[in-house]
Formats: sequence, structure tokens, C-alpha cells
Amino acid sequence: MSDLLSQPLKLPCGATLSNRLAKAPLTEGLADEHNRANEKLVRLYRRWSEGGAGLLVSGNVQVDRRYLERPGNVAIDNNGGLEWIKAYAKAGTSAGNHFWMQINHPGRQGAVTRDGTFPAPSAISLKVPGRPPFVPRVMPETEILDVIRRFGFVAATARECGFTGVQIHSAHGYLLSSFLSGLSNTRTDAWGGRLANRARALLETVRAVREAVGPDFPVGVKLNSSDFQKGGFTNEECLDVVRWLGEERIDLLEITGGTYEGVPWLEDVKPSTRRREGYFIDYARQIQSVATTPLMITGGMRTRAGMEDALRGGMDMIGLGRPMCVDTDICKRLLAGETEVAASYESGLPLDAKQIAVDATEAEAKALEVWSQLVWFFVQLWRIGEGQEPKPELSALEAYRIYCETEQRQTEKLAALESPLD
Ligand SMILES: Cc1cc2nc3c(=O)[nH]c(=O)nc-3n(C[C@H](O)[C@H](O)[C@H](O)COP(=O)(O)O)c2cc1C
Repeated sequence: MSDLLSQPLKLPCGATLSNRLAKAPLTEGLADEHNRANEKLVRLYRRWSEGGAGLLVSGNVQVDRRYLERPGNVAIDNNGGLEWIKAYAKAGTSAGNHFWMQINHPGRQGAVTRDGTFPAPSAISLKVPGRPPFVPRVMPETEILDVIRRFGFVAATARECGFTGVQIHSAHGYLLSSFLSGLSNTRTDAWGGRLANRARALLETVRAVREAVGPDFPVGVKLNSSDFQKGGFTNEECLDVVRWLGEERIDLLEITGGTYEGVPWLEDVKPSTRRREGYFIDYARQIQSVATTPLMITGGMRTRAGMEDALRGGMDMIGLGRPMCVDTDICKRLLAGETEVAASYESGLPLDAKQIAVDATEAEAKALEVWSQLVWFFVQLWRIGEGQEPKPELSALEAYRIYCETEQRQTEKLAALESPLD
């Protein structure tokens, strides 16, 4: 039994999380072509709810069906299916834990667009090797305000449907995160330029969400400690944003780092962080010195000792991502003291890119390898959603094939809709 991990956490809004372990948000890609929840998500979240974590955070739910992070995203924009959102919330809270909806707009990192554009703060292309280049469409202020309103609408819907909290996704290069970065946001109006302007979209979103859900409902934010990119959102800038977030009524700040362009958020930022567990723990400690909000650290947390160290050092929650894709009850076993370590399935990965792309440049091969790592975890989630067991022995190559076929099918179904917003 771990006393530290088993401690409840009272949040500023008055809600209490029953222990210190959280399932980090993991995009599921399981929704139907109308971007509604379904029985697959219900099955997956019922299983996770029984897994012992005090908090589950959903994969990112989109505020606008026209712009998706992937074809199988859940979106909430008057597309119906609320009975399924209720069933989804009920399944995710079935063991009495908290279940928060992560809310997102993908911005220029979107994979699906239904109007041929990818809206973003500025017309600055995403530079990810192997990904077709496109120039994002600059969002007019009316559209920024509309997106902020949509975050509030989705948050209110989440509450009405039985979610017990929400998390605003402002990390990893998606829309709100791209507003924060001077590299992707070169606007000269009130939404760009100095940091206070670049942070406006996030802070206004926080206010809209709080307004929509009321004072007694948990509101979290996921934030990069740094983009780890020259000219991108820096650690010093992060500290200022954390100070400003402290003036808002936030219940939990999840700390992560990286973007698709820079050092990915699945990787250690520097080998020295291995000395202390957690990719972003050194940054989190700096954040702690200015934060007035409870903190959750996610990324590479694998041992009970490391988790307890982080809690002793002042972190409030420990987020687990990839281990939860295979060991859905790892939190229960960590809490009971039955295991010391959450298995690192990433260690057997990734795929050798040359197996699928012989002509790939070094940069393309590296990007493909990061991608193939993610893919392996997606396929595990899909298996659980289909009612199968996870398959740790699945090869990276097999996972890649399953992934490509499934996403192709999903994309064709989306394209077959008579109207893009059917
Ligand atoms: C399959 C997969 C899907 C993910 N989807 C999301 C997401 O929807 N939102 C998000 O904020 N992070 C997402 N992440 C990042 C995780 O929340 C987490 O930050 C990352 O996996 C590092 O934690 P870990 O080392 O415990 O896996 C995803 C990660 C994986 C592997």
C-alpha cells in the first residue's frame, strides 16, 4: 500500500480526487464519422474507471467538427449524440473516480479539415518531416472569439452530461499552445506580439470555461513547460503564464512539454532527466515556485519510488499515459503496493522506418519512428474498445498496418458524408 499515492487531493473548487494517480489524456480515435461517442468509448472507459486512478482525463474532444486532430475524434458542436456523451461519462465514472473531458482545437496541427483550411494564429507552416506542407489560414478575431465561446459550450455540455471536470488543452502545439509561441504566432494585433497578448487566447478561454461551468466544477489546463524549440514558447514564458493562470480559478495544471515540430512530448528532453524520473520534472519544480494551483506531472513517470519522490517534492498528481494503454489496472496495483513499476512498453519500440519507407531521409525516418510509436499505443486502445485484450506482443510493423487501414477507412467514411457537417 502506498500512503503517498493513496492520499486524496482537495481541489480549489471544492471537489476531491480520491488518490494521486491520473490517466493522462490519450486521444482514442474511436468515435463514429459524425464524431459522436459510442459503445467502444464506453467499453474503454468503464475498464479504465475500474483501474484505480483517482482521475481519468479523456482524449482531446474537438470544439468544431470541421477541424479534427484525427478522424475518430469526439466533437461537440450541435452534432447530436448527447445520449452517448452521457453514457461515456457514466462509464468513465463508474468506479466513483473523477472523469474530466479534455477540450481542444487542433489549429495547424489538425489532420482533418472539412473546409480545406487549417486555422491558426498566423500563416506559418508546420515543419514536420514527411508531412505535406500547407499554409494555415490566419484566424480573424471573430473566429478566435468563436473558438473561445465553443470551449465554453463544450465545457457546459460536459458538465450537463455527467463529466466531473474539464481540462483545456494548451500544450503540444495545438491551437491554444500555438498562440503562446512566438514562432507560430506572429500577429500584430491584441492576440500576438508580447507574451501577455499571446497568452490572451488561453486566458480568455479559461474565463469562458469557468463562466460556463460555475465555481464548483473542476477546470484544469494542460500546458507546455517549454516547446523546446528555438524561438518557441520558453520556460521563462511558461513561468509568467503560470503566474497569470494563478489569478484565474484553475484546479489542476498538467505539466508537459514539446510539440510535433520540436522535441516530441513522448521523449526525454535531456538524458540528465533520467537521474530524476519524469521528462519534465526539473521544469515542473521551477513552475512549482510560482504556481498557486495544484500541479500534475506527466511524461515518463514509471516507478512507484519516482512517483512518491515527485509527490514529496511538491507535485500533487502523477499522470500516466502509455502504461494505461496496455496495463489498464496499473494504478490499482501501484496503490495496493503490488507492483513497483509501470511497464515501459515504449522501450521495445519504435519501428525501423526503413521497413516501410526505404527512401526516407534521416529526418523523415525519425519522424516516422516517433509516429509509429504512437500508433502502437492507438492500436492497443482500439483493441480494448472492440472488447479485445491489449496485445503487448504486437509488432510495431503489424500495428502500423492496422493503423493505416483503420484510419483510411475512417477518412473514407468522413468523406462519404453528403455534407461535411452531416
Ligand atoms: C496514444 C497517445 C495519445 C495521446 N493523446 C493525447 C491527447 O489527446 N491529449 C493530450 O494532452 N496528450 C495526449 N497524449 C500525451 C499523453 O497525455 C502524455 O503527455 C504522454 O504520453 C507522456 O506520458 P507517458 O510517458 O506516461 O506516456 C497522448 C499520448 C499517446 C501515447
